[in-house]
Amino acid sequence: MSFTGIDAVTFGVSDMAEARRFCDDWGLRPVSAAADRLVFETQDGGQVIIRPADAPDLPPAIEPGNTVREVTWGCADAAALEASLARLRAAGALREDGTARDPNGLSLRFQVSPRRKVVAQPTPANAPGSPNRVDRRSPVHAKADPIKLGHIVLFAADFGAMRGFYLDAMGLILSDEYPGHGAFMRAQTRGEHHNLFVLNRPGKPGVNHVAFTLADIHEVIGGGIAMAQKGWKTEIGPGRHPISSAYFWYFHNPLGAPVEYYADDDFCTEAWVPGQFVRKPELFAEWAIAGGIDGTTRRQVVAVDQSGRGHA
Ligand SMILES: [Fe+2]
Repeated sequence: MSFTGIDAVTFGVSDMAEARRFCDDWGLRPVSAAADRLVFETQDGGQVIIRPADAPDLPPAIEPGNTVREVTWGCADAAALEASLARLRAAGALREDGTARDPNGLSLRFQVSPRRKVVAQPTPANAPGSPNRVDRRSPVHAKADPIKLGHIVLFAADFGAMRGFYLDAMGLILSDEYPGHGAFMRAQTRGEHHNLFVLNRPGKPGVNHVAFTLADIHEVIGGGIAMAQKGWKTEIGPGRHPISSAYFWYFHNPLGAPVEYYADDDFCTEAWVPGQFVRKPELFAEWAIAGGIDGTTRRQVVAVDQSGRGHA
């Protein structure tokens, strides 16, 4: 058994006040706020940690500007943690301080997970002959309440090395892939479709996005419109991914790469058969709203896609 998922993501930023404003608006719960360290939590206790980019104790950045400086992976218990550390040690990837660096140079930390299991309550859908929501209106959400840190997507400077590291040394499980270009990996055999997606970008390591899980599509829409009302700009969305089946909405932000609200991704087991796909825009998005939905008019902002996110 491997990791249970992502416990924390640490960002190094140039503007702590803007980062704090964004995290508040995003629906994260403030835990502590010091001048050089802000901590926010998702519903399950997953943490978003914000530090000044020039904090001397931060691990090195893998790309210029605001970005992720460390990812903390959790294990179910002490035995699972020791097994994971042993796997990393055998691969020669474990450092003396118990952390690791992936082939991009990104710092990874490991711990027994303090996260709590959250049982989400998505709004059931009705269909003829299948009334799942009876005598109950479907809600309109005024704000999102992120449940967990669902996944992170990394640009791989050396795709083969990154794919191998996360599958072999980290023990993640392949869910789907674009051979030679991208690999969707999950932490648990029985679990959500991906906790990590590694994307080939030769020689240029980086972060593509960090994603937060919501309960259902209604929360993705309501949460996204709330962000638009507060002036945050859409990168692309809402929309739907054919691979993983999830509804998504990506926002620009002062933490670094875009962050994503998403819901209703595939849940995989040992019976899941990994697919192999050829990268093309319609596999990133079955459909998507370019520029997002205006918070006041509740209509789409623009009809031209300037996100550049054709394939990822
Ligand atoms: Fe995503």
